[in-house]
Amino acid sequence: MRNKMVRTMAAGLVLALGLAACSGDGAGGGDAGEASAEPGGDGGLIGVAMPTETSERWIADGAAVKEGLEEAGYEVSLQFAADDIPTQSQQIDQMITQGVEALIIAAIDGTALAGQLQAAADAGIPVISYDRLIRDSEHVDFYVTFDNYQVGVQQATSLLVGLGVLNEDGSDGDAEGPFNVELFAGSLDDNNAHFFWDGAIDTLQPYLDAGTLEVPSGQTDIEQAATLRWSQETAQKRMEDLLTAAYAGDTELHGVLSPYDGISRGIITALTNAGYGPTTADGMPIVSGQDAEIASVKLIADDVQFATIFKDTRKLAVQAVIAAQAYLSGEEPEANDTETYENGVKVVPSFLLESDIVYAGNIAELLVDSGYYTDAQVEAGQA
Ligand code: BGC
Repeated sequence: MRNKMVRTMAAGLVLALGLAACSGDGAGGGDAGEASAEPGGDGGLIGVAMPTETSERWIADGAAVKEGLEEAGYEVSLQFAADDIPTQSQQIDQMITQGVEALIIAAIDGTALAGQLQAAADAGIPVISYDRLIRDSEHVDFYVTFDNYQVGVQQATSLLVGLGVLNEDGSDGDAEGPFNVELFAGSLDDNNAHFFWDGAIDTLQPYLDAGTLEVPSGQTDIEQAATLRWSQETAQKRMEDLLTAAYAGDTELHGVLSPYDGISRGIITALTNAGYGPTTADGMPIVSGQDAEIASVKLIADDVQFATIFKDTRKLAVQAVIAAQAYLSGEEPEANDTETYENGVKVVPSFLLESDIVYAGNIAELLVDSGYYTDAQVEAGQA
């Protein structure tokens, strides 16, 4: 099944590579874009370091980047690090020893790769930060990602839509609250977690200030809301603790800001165990998400999870390939953002992609029509 998804995504990547080549609309721009449609690579080795295989998105990212690079004529060393920082460091050390010509890295901890980055710089190896910004180093050359602040805005927006405070078109909804909500953040060592949180909180703050939203636990700081390594189990445990501490008696929970589908599923398990559900008297609180993981897409289709954010990993993979090709052709990749991603040492030139909110009503349009999943996969909740 997994292979089928990877194949579908790879086919999409080839198509997307073709499109990028036609439009010249990518990190590498015209020429590099064209080169990506034809195998023009020198057969050299490129290292691709991904954080974990416990989340579908990184498997799909890894597969799509590998396929794209191979299509473009390179060899690929693709490694997953089981969310273990020393493992990822070792894998990258090994890639450098093997003589890679470029590195594409989705870091586990954005600050933990100083030694590897220095070694890469000493060897003249360009480093592309993939989806997650590598921090506190000057030796990161380029960043391909989504507009992460906007992802946070979309997560909060989906929560407000689910509560009826906003309509899907952004206009004011009829509901006035007050609604009880709880807030979850991602892993604090991942730079993205802060962008998602900032986008979400900036969106929710006016409603918190107006009393439309209340947070009965009082846990409104990112440190309190954080979920180390984006762990589903950690999120479930925190949700259970919040329910015990702040929702005894008659206090009812109406919504949960969740930054990632795995975290959402942990939250939903805790809520279900506590008696919430789509067919119970209290209903299921509105739960947001991210990544359009297939299990969560099914939960959305079944009215259990309310929404997720779709970040098309096929398109991100294309940008990583185009950026790598640009470096290996002696060019600089073309950025579309040179201001936002300050990594503690410098602003890293970036190529940002857009994301979409997935609701039950647009699963077909966003995820099936685009070939990301098939109807059968959505139905089964399995890729
Ligand atoms: C990614 C998200 C993902 C999260 C957990 C973040 O860095 O941007 O797409 O949900 O990591 O894997």
